[in-house]
Amino acid sequence: WAVFAEDVDAILALKRERNAVVLAHNYQTPEIFHGVADIVGDSLLLAREATKVNADVIVLAGVHFMAETAKLLNPEKTVLIPDLAAGCSLADSITAQDVRLMRQRYPGVPVVTYVNTSVAVKAESDICCTSGNALKVVESLGVERVIMLPDEYLAQNIAAQTNVKVTAWKGHCEVHELFTASDVRQLRENHPDVTILAHPECPPEVVAEADFSGSTAAMSEYVGKQRPPRVVLLTECSMSDNVAVLHPELEFIRPCNLCPHMKRITLKNIRHALETGRHEVTIDPAIANPARRAVERMLAV
Ligand code: 13P
Ligand code: SF4
Repeated sequence: WAVFAEDVDAILALKRERNAVVLAHNYQTPEIFHGVADIVGDSLLLAREATKVNADVIVLAGVHFMAETAKLLNPEKTVLIPDLAAGCSLADSITAQDVRLMRQRYPGVPVVTYVNTSVAVKAESDICCTSGNALKVVESLGVERVIMLPDEYLAQNIAAQTNVKVTAWKGHCEVHELFTASDVRQLRENHPDVTILAHPECPPEVVAEADFSGSTAAMSEYVGKQRPPRVVLLTECSMSDNVAVLHPELEFIRPCNLCPHMKRITLKNIRHALETGRHEVTIDPAIANPARRAVERMLAV
C-alpha cells in the first residue's frame, strides 16, 4: 500500500476540492476499489447509484459504456473517464445499423440490449439489461420472443432459465469466452471440495458445470452469505482480489483472465482526470433521449 499512498492521498484531496465521486466497477484493482472508490459494484449498481449521486463530478473507474450510462443518467453533471480507450469487446461487436437490420429481420420482436453497448446501440433498443437483471427484464416484457443483444452466451444462459424464446447476436466478452468446461472439470479434479462461481458471460457449458452463476455483485454476495471455504470465481482477475480482502478466512483459487480495458484505469490516470478534467464523456444529443429511455425502462423493472 505504501507505493500507492501518494496517489491515494492526492485523489482523496482532489475529490473534496472538486466535489467529485469515484464510481468503480468490481474489476478495478484493489488500490482503486478499496483505496479511492466511493461506490463499488456491478454494472447495475453503478447505473442505479449514478441516479443518486450528489456531486458535481463523477469519475467512472471502469469502461467507456459505464461512463456513458452514468452521463445518460446525469446529463447536467461532468462525467470523466480516466482513459478514453477503455472499451469492451461486447460493445465493439455491434452497431446501431446491426440493430436496425435485426428489427427488419424479426419485425415486432422487442430488443433487449445489454448495457455493454454504445449509446447509439442503446438508442435503437426497447430496453437495456445487465447480467444482474437480464432474466427479470426479459420476463417483464410479457412476450413470447425477444432479441437479446449483443452477448450470445448471456442470451443462451438466460434462454436456459425461461420459456421466452431468445434470438441472440454473436458478440462475446473476450475475457469470459476463454473459460471452458474442461477448466471446470480440472478444477474439480484438483480441488474436490471447491465451489465454482461463473459469470453469465461465460459459455453455457461452463455455466452448466458451475455451482452458481450471477453478476459480479451476485458472486460477491454469494461468497459473503454462503462462505464456501474454497472458492473459484470464473471471471476477471481483480474480482477475486477485491472479494478476498473482505474474506481472509476463505481460500480463493484463482484461474482468471484479465480484462485489458478495465486495466487501462489506474490510480495515476484517476488522479490526472481529477487534476485536468479529462476525459469528459459527451453524448450526441440526437441519440441521448432514446438511449436514456432504454436505460431508465430497465431501472424501473
Ligand atoms: P457485471 O458487473 O454487471 O456483472 O458485468 C461484468 C462485466 O463484464 C462488466 O464489464
Ligand atoms: Fe467488456 Fe468483458 Fe472487459 Fe467486461 S470483462 S469490459 S464485458 S471485455
